[in-house]
Amino acid sequence: MIDGDRLRALAPGSALAARAVHTGEVDSTMEAARRELEGRPPPLLVTAEIQRLGRGREGRSWHSPAAGNLYVTAALPLFLPLASLPAFTLACGVAVHQAARDLLGPEVELSIKWPNDLLCRGAKMAGVLCELLASDPGHVVLCGLGVNVNAESFPPEIDAIATSMRMASGRTFEREEVLARICSRLEAAAELYGREGFGPFRGECTSRSSLWGRRCRIDATTGIMESIDERGALVIRLQDGTTAAVAAGRLDLLD
Ligand code: BTN
Repeated sequence: MIDGDRLRALAPGSALAARAVHTGEVDSTMEAARRELEGRPPPLLVTAEIQRLGRGREGRSWHSPAAGNLYVTAALPLFLPLASLPAFTLACGVAVHQAARDLLGPEVELSIKWPNDLLCRGAKMAGVLCELLASDPGHVVLCGLGVNVNAESFPPEIDAIATSMRMASGRTFEREEVLARICSRLEAAAELYGREGFGPFRGECTSRSSLWGRRCRIDATTGIMESIDERGALVIRLQDGTTAAVAAGRLDLLD
């Protein structure tokens, strides 16, 4: 289990670290955070060792065994209309990217894949799932993070597309240290987003992405990825030369 004292010592200024609940096995930390919020207000953090029903975006599951990884949900007191959820998800992706880069160093190549993936040499190292709290819509954001930290292998069905910080670097990581950095980066990102919106994240999102010039399909839209606009939507150049901005959806790479 995550050592709460160690986490607080490593992230002394973090409200998330100070108000964290560390659990063993749960259904999903998204649901566990919702249950916690019935008794106390945000900010708070829930971590788990194992998730039986770990969820990803678009109805996918998130592989969540006891493998020294991080499965966490941060409940953040942030006013956010539903339409801004994709942009805030990208801002959280920037925060996770920064935390991973701090620990892995510049020699490990990391990139952000719109809308919510942290990739290392093309394989997924972490994913972000943001949701609003239905009982208080717009005022509490649940930011779920799955980070493959110390996993040494993956099941065959995701082996080719998944990686971990350990597999990428040959080193094991103290999870409390990884989580401390994530808490600090995430709290700073939420604070900045609350003040200025997506604007300050756009440059880093764009420069950390490896998608530009590649062909893709998002739902019914096919084209060449060009940029991220000021609202966090992906701008795609269509075959007729015009562009379309897609706010959310499942992105498939075609080349
Ligand atoms: C994705 O890439 O599709 C998002 C993955 C998010 C996974 C995390 S693990 C902790 C939290 N609890 C869940 O059930 N999902 C998120």
